[in-house]
Formats: sequence, structure tokens, C-alpha cells
Amino acid sequence: MAWQAYRVASYPTIAGSLLLTAVSALAAESPQTPSIFTPASTPAFAIRELSFLVLGLSAVIFAVVAGVATYILLRFRSREGDEQREPPQVYGSDRIELAWTVVPFLIVVVLFLVTARYIYGIEHRSQPPEALEVTVVGNQWWWEIRYPKLGIVTANELHVPAGDAARPAPTFITLQSADVVHSFWVPQLAGKMDVIPNKTNRTWIEPRRPGTYVGQCAEYCGTQHAWMLLRVVVQPREEFDRWVAAQQAPAPDDPAARAGARLFASLPCINCHTVRGTPANGLFGPDLTHLMSRTTLGAGAARNNPETLKAWVEDPASFKPGALMPAMKLSNDELSQLAAYLLTLR
Ligand code: CUA
Repeated sequence: MAWQAYRVASYPTIAGSLLLTAVSALAAESPQTPSIFTPASTPAFAIRELSFLVLGLSAVIFAVVAGVATYILLRFRSREGDEQREPPQVYGSDRIELAWTVVPFLIVVVLFLVTARYIYGIEHRSQPPEALEVTVVGNQWWWEIRYPKLGIVTANELHVPAGDAARPAPTFITLQSADVVHSFWVPQLAGKMDVIPNKTNRTWIEPRRPGTYVGQCAEYCGTQHAWMLLRVVVQPREEFDRWVAAQQAPAPDDPAARAGARLFASLPCINCHTVRGTPANGLFGPDLTHLMSRTTLGAGAARNNPETLKAWVEDPASFKPGALMPAMKLSNDELSQLAAYLLTLR
């Protein structure tokens, strides 16, 4: 319902976006509200620890400065009957100047060293042999997600296994960009990592709690930067293995949707999209082999259901102005056939 309301406006308003966020938060598989204070993965726990130290130190500084300022304001305020004259002027006190130079310097040194130690600890974690390997490619404006060793390609929804203290389940992520600079950020799982053309960056997560964690491109990358959402579905091991098996399966061939499949293969769709086991082998757009296993369309721009899917194919720009997928100008019958076919890609 809210998705249709959204389509009426040609550009998302702030209120509309807030409404959408509220609606997606209420949806069946409700993702966690992104926050660095509710970590669910090893690097995120470390980042929270460091944040508490920095916030704690800042709070002490604030309390001291605000306390002294308040005391002075009250203690030395002008009172009735005071003589109206200049107070004594103090120039050049070595002791005071030394104190306000050395103390802040020491605080900065402590923060610098502690931060450097955390960064080093996170970045120099070596990859254990059992770690899951994933390649995430930033595109304007969606995420391609590849599991090179599992032969899976999907988009915008990263599935990983959950571990625990006894049996950690690290996932090592290789980050690449197909076009401009993006930034990969899932606050509950790890810190930000830039996604840069012609450079390969690495990051890792080690989730300890199953759940759906949302992330967001954190580097302005063009008009649809705000609709470059990312979902990370952390699943218990058996559930993750089932997901892998389902994704590895070829696209289902439903006799009832053959007309739509033929239509799809005759359209330029196949130049940009792949449906494994069919003539569609394009690489510019998201892999559609198991399109309907995904929760959203257009990297979070709409919930993925029969109505929005049809509306999306009819005119992607009504959801995501500036998206590279063109409107195909299909007749209503063609649109229905095509949607019927896409809906079989479970
Ligand atoms: Cu991609 Cu901002």
C-alpha cells in the first residue's frame, strides 16, 4: 500500500522515505534498526568498545568544562552594590598555558593510539581457511553479490551463516566497484569500507546472532545513492546451507510461463540480466535466476511482490529516477506475460 502511495510522487520526499522505512521495519521479516550500539558481529563489538571510550572521555571533558563555566558564571556574577570596575587582568601564565596544552595533547595521543590499535586489530585479521568468501560489487545503484566458490550470484541481499563463541563463522568480503566510489556499511556487523573502482578492498564480518541487518551505501554516488540499500541475512548454519542449495539450482522451467520466457528472451532484457540456463547472460544488471527469493526490488526501492514487480518492469524510473534500466514500452499483455515468467524465478 505504502509502495503505491510512494509511486504517486515522482521524487521521494523525506516524509515518504521515513514512511517507507517505518513500513519496511514493520514487515514480516523485520530487519534490525541500524545502530553501532547494538553490534552482532566481532568487528562491530570492537567498534562499540572504542566508541564508548571516546564518548566517555568526551563526556568527562564536557562535564569539567561545563561545570567550571557554570561555577564561574554563578560565583562571579555581577551583584548589586558591586563596584563597577575592571577585574584584575592576567597576561602570560606559563603554568596555565602549559596545562591547557599538555592535557589536551595527552588526551589526543591516548585516543590516537587506542584507535590505531583497534584498526590494526580488525584489518590484520588473517582469513581462516573455513571462512566464507564473498565478492560484493558496488554499482550505480545496487550491490552485486557473488560467492565465487559456491557458484552463486545474487543482488542486494547478502546471506551468511551465524556463528557463536565456540564455532565462529567469519565471512571475508572482497569489495569492488563497477563505476564510481561507493561505501559498504552495515553498522551492526562491521565498520565502513570504501568501494573503489580499480582497487580491491577487503573487509570481514563474524556474525554471532541470526537476524536481518540493513546496511547502506555510505558514500555519495549519484542521484539514487539513498536507494542503495543492502540486507544481510544472518542464518543458522543449516538454514544457510538450504539457501545455498536453492540458489545453486538452475532457474525453474515452469511450462505455464513458457510464453513469458520466450518474450523475455526476445527482449533486450537479456543483454543486461542473467537467468542461468537460458540465453539471458547479460552482466550489467542484477542476476535474475532466483529473483523472487529476494525481499526487495531496486536495492530496497520497493518490496518485491507481483504488483511492484510488474510496476517496476513497466517503468523503473517511477520507483528510482535515474536507474539505468529503461522502460521497455510493453503492451499490457506483454507486461503480464513477462511478470508471470519472472514470478516463477524463485
Ligand atoms: Cu553507492 Cu552511494
